[in-house]
Amino acid sequence: MVLKTKNENKNSIYVPDIARISRIEKLSPTEKLFNIAFEDEEKQNNFKFLPGQFIELTIFGLGEAPFCLASNPNNREFFELCVRNAGNVSSALHRMEEGSKIGIRGPFGKGYFPFEKMRNHNVLLIAGGLGLVPLMSLIKYIMQHREDYREIMIVYGAVNPDSILFKNDIGYWSNRSDISICISVDNPDDKWTGEIGVCTKLIPRVNFPPEDTYVVVCGPPVMYKYVIVELEKKNFKPENIYLSLERRMECGVGKCNHCHIGNKLVCVDGPVFSLWEIINLKEAI
Ligand SMILES: Cc1cc2nc3c(=O)[nH]c(=O)nc-3n(C[C@H](O)[C@H](O)[C@H](O)COP(=O)(O)OP(=O)(O)OC[C@H]3O[C@@H](n4cnc5c(N)ncnc54)[C@H](O)[C@@H]3O)c2cc1C
Ligand code: FES
Repeated sequence: MVLKTKNENKNSIYVPDIARISRIEKLSPTEKLFNIAFEDEEKQNNFKFLPGQFIELTIFGLGEAPFCLASNPNNREFFELCVRNAGNVSSALHRMEEGSKIGIRGPFGKGYFPFEKMRNHNVLLIAGGLGLVPLMSLIKYIMQHREDYREIMIVYGAVNPDSILFKNDIGYWSNRSDISICISVDNPDDKWTGEIGVCTKLIPRVNFPPEDTYVVVCGPPVMYKYVIVELEKKNFKPENIYLSLERRMECGVGKCNHCHIGNKLVCVDGPVFSLWEIINLKEAI
């Protein structure tokens, strides 16, 4: 066995950097938003990511899990993760308090939402449930550079009104005239006055010209097939449709082969792919 020096270990892709949770906000009964910053200020200032990329988060002594970066990539003070309380790592994170120490590796993924190509085009964002999380960094980036983009529309489907994420951001955007938002819930409560049913049924109302529009889709796997059928009916081009895919991951850096789809590895080639790239990969969608 070859023993590694302390410095060699520090540079290993598997060793997380120490970070602290600076703020926790409950967004829904099952999701919390965590503001996180690296302990090392220089590391934090130099932490750059692209919309759609993800990190691996370590709960020391327990394990690691991947989470999408949900904040504006231009925010250098901290970054945000929105995490559903789902299992070992995520529930341990939910039990943590502001000031708690965690580990972070990343950012990972070569496939990101092509915010440069989208300039001077319309952007249609379609999210189902937790799928709004990776889209948040793109939406926040676009809203900061709003004059560079044409029409922006968000179509968002949630299970019920309580499970709608980022209500403050949505409320703020709803009062602006330069972005339109359509939300639909599967199970309305007595107070709900909006759309009812799966968000797919809102797509026929979109009237963006396909040649001038980029579409971004993120949601549970079952949603993709139906959304793509509706987008094809509207003649949106596969090379202009981008999807964020989720697979079980271990290493996050292309070494363990846990996340492969055909000849692609979701962790390094994705997690964002154009529909054109994956259209012939059987298990992709
Ligand atoms: C690229 C990527 C980005 C992600 N971004 C987010 C995010 O922003 N917010 C968020 O809340 N979650 C996100 N996830 C999912 C998150 O990583 C899982 O919730 C997490 O792995 C669950 O880990 P756990 O240890 O809490 O649960 P575990 O104890 O490992 O599992 C709990 C249950 O969830 C199932 N499960 C675990 N991971 C997955 C998965 N990836 N797909 C389907 N089922 C799974 C297990 O089979 C088990 O039934 C992302 C996953 C990937 C691959
Ligand atoms: S998670 Fe290990 S190869 Fe993708």
